[in-house]
Amino acid sequence: MNLLNEKLPVGIIGSGAMGSGIAQVAAMAGHPVKIMDTSREALEKSRNNLGNIIQKLKEKGKIEDTGELINKFEFVTDLGAFSSCKLVIEAIVENLEIKKKVFKEVEGIVAADCILASNTSSLSIASIAAACNAPERVIGIHFFNPAPLMALVEIIPAVQTAEALPNHVCQLMKQWGKAPVIVKDTPGFIVNRVARPFYGEALRIMEEGIADMETIDAAMTGLGGFRMGPFALMDYIGHDVNYVVTETVFQSFFYDSRYKPSFSQKRLLEAGWLGRKSGRGFYNYAPEAQVKPPVQDNALQNMIFDRILFMLINEAVDALHWNIASKEDIDLAMTKGVNYPKGLLQWCDELGADYVLAGLESLYGHYKEDRYRPSPLLRKYGIEKRRFFDGTF
Ligand SMILES: NC(=O)c1ccc[n+]([C@@H]2O[C@H](COP(=O)([O-])OP(=O)(O)OC[C@H]3O[C@@H](n4cnc5c(N)ncnc54)[C@H](O)[C@@H]3O)[C@@H](O)[C@H]2O)c1
Repeated sequence: MNLLNEKLPVGIIGSGAMGSGIAQVAAMAGHPVKIMDTSREALEKSRNNLGNIIQKLKEKGKIEDTGELINKFEFVTDLGAFSSCKLVIEAIVENLEIKKKVFKEVEGIVAADCILASNTSSLSIASIAAACNAPERVIGIHFFNPAPLMALVEIIPAVQTAEALPNHVCQLMKQWGKAPVIVKDTPGFIVNRVARPFYGEALRIMEEGIADMETIDAAMTGLGGFRMGPFALMDYIGHDVNYVVTETVFQSFFYDSRYKPSFSQKRLLEAGWLGRKSGRGFYNYAPEAQVKPPVQDNALQNMIFDRILFMLINEAVDALHWNIASKEDIDLAMTKGVNYPKGLLQWCDELGADYVLAGLESLYGHYKEDRYRPSPLLRKYGIEKRRFFDGTF
């Protein structure tokens, strides 16, 4: 089986936001794609959405023939149609028991050389692979939303995964026009782990009454060059997703206080104020709602920006400390997966690891909380005044 040289059939399980997006990416790379969902309604929605997208691509001159692309899709309600697939990517509901059941079922249908992948954001690939008789063919392929637009793909081998598979899948993702990174099967992989302080520290600054959300958002966009501030971004992602990821990462890291969720965000979720999609989150999205201006205080905004950035850099350095991924992949993940203005390790080099370390030591000195402990690797680099990208690492 060679997925690289031949455009072999790909199966996608789940035709929701992610499944449809991944199906589009695979079809545009030339593969026939079978999309399976238990819900006929979801399949119909996916068919309509993909049809509209393909029409728009034609209007923009990005594709020549709509029919050729549309004909690559087959929508099915039964996994039996997947017997010829050489790669199956599962993108169904985030529930371990249901995913395991589906993997077990699909394994009985496809040939022995078919790769089985999960797009899970938060479950361990090892636990999904354990449902299969041949767990060595199971791997995580984590796309970002919207899959056709976001370049990053996290490739996650489980302990059971065959040694050659991650590189093979990486090559394939490059052929699909993606930027793959290889990451250990650990909670949040790279992006959903390293990005946590962007939300968590912003929430904490607000909850302590140091600054309001408008000022925190302005500091991160104005001084940091982030496309959106933390509160605007949490509202955009939706608290049903963003809060749940935080809580899952917190629990999965055995309640490490660095990832502690916030009551303010939990209450929004409980109130059904999910963010943009419900018209109300931290901000009010009603047309008549007033926008409060940020506090114009440079010292305050600099302090906010530094504090959140130090926590983000510490998280990235700690991910490297634990060998979650290479330094290049950690930086690539944050620029291509969540559009950070630059990689956090590169940012650390620019500021100086000693400067970032001093900032964290100061926070730790003030709060005396484990949450603010500098990573051992940051301490080492700070003390030795080393850089991550000058070849000395
Ligand atoms: N939404 C995101 O931003 C995002 C990003 C990366 C990864 N993910 C992950 O991708 C997966 C799917 O997320 P989504 O946002 O596309 O969800 P979604 O709710 O939009 O779609 C899930 C689809 O799976 C179908 N489904 C449920 N159980 C099924 C089964 N047993 N067999 C076949 N189909 C079934 C549902 O009918 C639905 O159409 C989840 O594991 C999620 O964690 C989501």
